[in-house]
Amino acid sequence: MNKRLYPFYQIHYLFQNVFVTNLLLLRMKKTCLFLVVLFALILQFCTSTYKAISRKNRKVTYVNNIQPIVMNSCSPCHILPEGKKKAYNTYAAVKASVDSMLIRIRKNPNEKGFMPARSPKLSDSTINIFVQWKKDGLLER
Ligand code: HEC
Repeated sequence: MNKRLYPFYQIHYLFQNVFVTNLLLLRMKKTCLFLVVLFALILQFCTSTYKAISRKNRKVTYVNNIQPIVMNSCSPCHILPEGKKKAYNTYAAVKASVDSMLIRIRKNPNEKGFMPARSPKLSDSTINIFVQWKKDGLLER
């Protein structure tokens, strides 16, 4: 373009520069946004994986896992003072009886000796917590 033939050259040039600069800024903004989102996603992935791993490494214990189930499902019958059946209100008692408890909670409701009596069968995942507790060494806490 001939500068002399085009009187608005200066202005044109200026505007063109502004336009290009704006375009570049917009691109940079987009890139930054993309990087922030990417970083957030990576962070999210890392924390959830970390949580999953630490959950897996945590062992089943009486206080954290077993006691709440027993207090919930085996009361009042097996929990003193109201309970008149074999007491399962302490760590020592539950630890000593875990095998007979497992036999009873694995039965089906129509079988003789099924536990918890007069209640629905415990879920497989709940029963498995008892199995895992044994595997983990019957820890108290
Ligand atoms: C509604 C009351 C009731 C509930 C709830 C109950 N039981 Fe029982 N349980 C009984 C009775 C009654 C007996 C005695 C009769 C028998 O042995 O079947 C008994 C006996 C037992 C025995 C045999 C005890 C022994 O003397 O060797 C085990 C083991 C047992 N229950 C486990 C459980 C477990 C585990 C739960 C909770 C998941 C539970 N029970 C919930 C009433 C109950």
